[in-house]
Amino acid sequence: MADAEREHRAGAAGRPMKLRGRTVHGEAANAGHRVLAPDDAEVEAYLEVALDAPAPERPADDRPTISRPPEPPDSVVVLDFGSQFAQLIARRVRELDVYSELLPYDTPFAELERRKVKGIILSGGPSSVYDPDAPRPDPAIWSGRIPVLGICYGAQLMAVELGGEVMRTPQREYGPAVVSIDPDDPVLAGLGTEQPVWMSHADSITQLPGGFRATAQTDSSPVAALADPSRDLFGIQFHPEVVHTPRGREVLANFVLRVAAATPEWTPANFIDSTVERIRERVDEHARATDSEGKVICALSGGVDSAVAAALVHRAVGDRLTCIYVDHGLMRKRESELLRDTFEANLGMSLVMVEARGRFLARLAGIEDPEEKRRIIGDEFIRVFEEEAASLGCIDFLTQGTLYPDVIESTAPETKAAQKIKTHHNVGGLPTDLRFQLIEPLRYLFKDEVRKVGLALGLPEQMVMRQPFPGPGLAIRIIGEVTAERLDTLREADWIVIDEIKAAGLYRNVWQSFAILTPVRSVGVMGDGRTYANVVAIRAVTSEDGMTADWARLPYDVLARISARIVNEVPGVNRVVYDISSKPPATIEWE
Ligand code: XMP
Repeated sequence: MADAEREHRAGAAGRPMKLRGRTVHGEAANAGHRVLAPDDAEVEAYLEVALDAPAPERPADDRPTISRPPEPPDSVVVLDFGSQFAQLIARRVRELDVYSELLPYDTPFAELERRKVKGIILSGGPSSVYDPDAPRPDPAIWSGRIPVLGICYGAQLMAVELGGEVMRTPQREYGPAVVSIDPDDPVLAGLGTEQPVWMSHADSITQLPGGFRATAQTDSSPVAALADPSRDLFGIQFHPEVVHTPRGREVLANFVLRVAAATPEWTPANFIDSTVERIRERVDEHARATDSEGKVICALSGGVDSAVAAALVHRAVGDRLTCIYVDHGLMRKRESELLRDTFEANLGMSLVMVEARGRFLARLAGIEDPEEKRRIIGDEFIRVFEEEAASLGCIDFLTQGTLYPDVIESTAPETKAAQKIKTHHNVGGLPTDLRFQLIEPLRYLFKDEVRKVGLALGLPEQMVMRQPFPGPGLAIRIIGEVTAERLDTLREADWIVIDEIKAAGLYRNVWQSFAILTPVRSVGVMGDGRTYANVVAIRAVTSEDGMTADWARLPYDVLARISARIVNEVPGVNRVVYDISSKPPATIEWE
């Protein structure tokens, strides 16, 4: 290896760096699709990759507390049989203010009892209950000691395991259906006698197990729901978690709040109180034990997660927290000002803003390959971050904005594969030889909960409700070389896109909306003269999680305003095009 290359690979502390390119499991990091990165993810990925850090160890029964003495909140667990909706079920339960977590389908019943869970939901899944390797739960869950709700595959399992029958029916039920309902089923109470629901199954329950009765039917499913209230066992063939089942929330509420009788205590306010207290205790204890100041640092990326994590930690330890923001010059217009206003001016936090634009630009000069850009940005980021951290003296803790979806193990094969990429991509970890410990205040939260907590902490909406933004920022939206001039062009165009989309009230309806500076120049005419200038592309997509996406059907007049403003206000641009590709086969970003 040439000296320059070796030096390039060595961190500021002289440690060898692992080059980005392989996941921790050995697959190519960029094989297949990128997964939704929490918008701060990159900061953490930089720390992990550049410092060759192992993934953080988290105890298996690591759980939030919400009251003293540290008591976990009432919870309803979702056993994951591989459905793409398994996480969504847990989110829906949490929307009822009841804590919910996703556990592997074969979690021993004794473990569920030890956790004192109030209810168990069995997710759907891609298998057929008669597949030889069909996933099955611990049979003790049918004991009646903890209420169970089976959804789709979960309901079929309940039927088969308890002596009923499931058969592959000639007619798959997929999409909307109408169920007629027996109002005496406590899970279906209050829904009237008919409800539109969403179905997705090929197998159907054809014979009920002993003790059960059918409590809902459709034209093609005689058993669209089954119930044995004496044992608190319930099953539904339809999906209450998806929006296409308009009153699905009530079904889940019936199970969670009435049958399982969980106390709705999982609220942003409770979460903030208990988390702040726990962080404070931990930092104080460490400071006492090591006779240190208990100093904490946090890398702010400009995204929601690091902002909320920092605000929580600040509430716990005040000015013992220092936030570091590396201004790499690849951010959107006015980002740095927003950050300064929010953290320094409004929250009174101590913020170190590192002006590193020149350093990043110099290293990006002449680089066209997107993965090379990502690698350079990550590498430079860690150098700057390490230098700043070193200048602060002894640091005891590093705050990271890891979210719950980054922490859970998933059963669905495609999510599992994605998870591996994500592990590499998003979840940072601490190198063993680094001095500080990790504080991950958001590791129990889904993204929508992070936003609620952020608002409850008083962070401005503008910061909390923002669309995801990739860590390497505008660098991967400039196709080809990144220069100061091209950055200025893109920043102005991007500002106009966001401005018009916000003005049209569409900002929150789209997952991401932005401009891309293409390497194409085209002929135009302005006034009396011909021009030969840049083509800007606009991308706006709708998506649930960034894994798949569709192009947003923006109204023509919004597109017209965006186009006219960009061509008029941004020097060097004479043409605007709209990207109408979905993901897959395209991706959200162009690079
Ligand atoms: P793609 O382009 O793969 O993007 O459809 C999926 C989601 O990931 C974001 N993305 C990134 N986020 N660093 C990040 O932190 C990256 O290098 C990166 N590349 C893509 C993208 O904005 C979208 O939300």
